[in-house]
Amino acid sequence: MSQKQASNSADIKDQLRDTVKVTLTLNGATTHILWNRQIPLLDALLNAGIHVPNSCCRGACGTCICKLEEGEVRLKRNFVLSETHLQQGLILACVAAPVSQSITINYDEF
Ligand code: FES
Repeated sequence: MSQKQASNSADIKDQLRDTVKVTLTLNGATTHILWNRQIPLLDALLNAGIHVPNSCCRGACGTCICKLEEGEVRLKRNFVLSETHLQQGLILACVAAPVSQSITINYDEF
């Protein structure tokens, strides 16, 4: 392996460590993006050009609700979802921080 190939491989490993693989279903279509761990899930989706519902961007309105089908996130704040909602897997994308290495979310069924 050349030095350049080794450098590229290290860069790819760094990128994968800093990102979360997101599989999402929206309007009947399934898409994959990489989520930079430093930003909220909603920002990652919007940055990827995916126009998901949003409004307040601070966990207060519920416009960005989606269902977490696989993986784990932590909500930085939550003024909307009840304990029952959380147990059903509902999350607020605007205040979601990653926990697991990959997640699957669905905007169509919740
Ligand atoms: S956009 Fe309002 S709670 Fe997420």
